[in-house]
Amino acid sequence: MNIGIFGTGMVGQVLAPKLVELGHDVMLGTRNPAETLARNEKDNYGNPPFSEWHQNNPKVKVGTFAEAAAHGELLMNGTSGHGSLPALRAAGERNLNGKILIDIANPLDLSQGFPPSLYVGNTDSLGEQIQREFPALNVVKALNTVNAFVMVNPAILGNGDHDIFVSGNDAQAKQTVIAFLKSQFGWKDVIDFGDITYARATEGYLALWIRMYAQFQTPMVTIKVVK
Ligand SMILES: NC(=O)c1ccc[n+]([C@@H]2O[C@H](COP(=O)([O-])OP(=O)(O)OC[C@H]3O[C@@H](n4cnc5c(N)ncnc54)[C@H](OP(=O)(O)O)[C@@H]3O)[C@@H](O)[C@H]2O)c1
Repeated sequence: MNIGIFGTGMVGQVLAPKLVELGHDVMLGTRNPAETLARNEKDNYGNPPFSEWHQNNPKVKVGTFAEAAAHGELLMNGTSGHGSLPALRAAGERNLNGKILIDIANPLDLSQGFPPSLYVGNTDSLGEQIQREFPALNVVKALNTVNAFVMVNPAILGNGDHDIFVSGNDAQAKQTVIAFLKSQFGWKDVIDFGDITYARATEGYLALWIRMYAQFQTPMVTIKVVK
């Protein structure tokens, strides 16, 4: 399948090679492809520069947000919270309409340092902001509650015995995403929370996730719902 991923950070860099390995044709979207491909500084986490990453992953295409959106039959949003709406505007409605967007982004406000707060929440969410602005795009909030390495390999933690959540307004789009997460990444427990307003809950969970990260000194932490 042709897949367009918005974002060249850790999420894009982990999801894209995994999807290529699975046989998909993947394009990462970025603001300025030439500048991104020329980056030779390490990222904020000390990971190798994007140019080095791309030399090691030459099958991953890199284009503008509009090119990645046009490329993808399925789309994923791995841009920063503040960058998400600008990235989607740059992608253009005609490249988005009618498609599914797996929205992985979190509305983190890092302006006051660590731990970040959320710049939208409680009565609204980034997922809803995206859905409101692009009503013909089928937004499915998913994967935003785990580290990128867990997204593509849930078995890396607790043999995969933990949960991932989806929410969105279109039932068929959610079923497609649930099937995709199970068949491609090996998720066993996918909880369908309901409409996109449930993104308030999974984005809000970041307040707890960030503190678990700090407490346990590892991003490899997630939750299992016990009823
Ligand atoms: N890292 C994780 O393990 C993880 C886990 C769960 C959820 N998330 C969420 O996933 C998203 C991506 O995280 P990340 O760590 O991969 O990278 P990130 O640093 O949060 O985001 C990087 C991407 O955001 C884009 N961006 C930043 N400002 C922009 C703007 N003003 N307009 C358009 N695009 C802009 C960048 O575009 P350029 O390519 O042009 O620089 C880049 O592609 C975030 O929302 C994060 O909260 C991350």
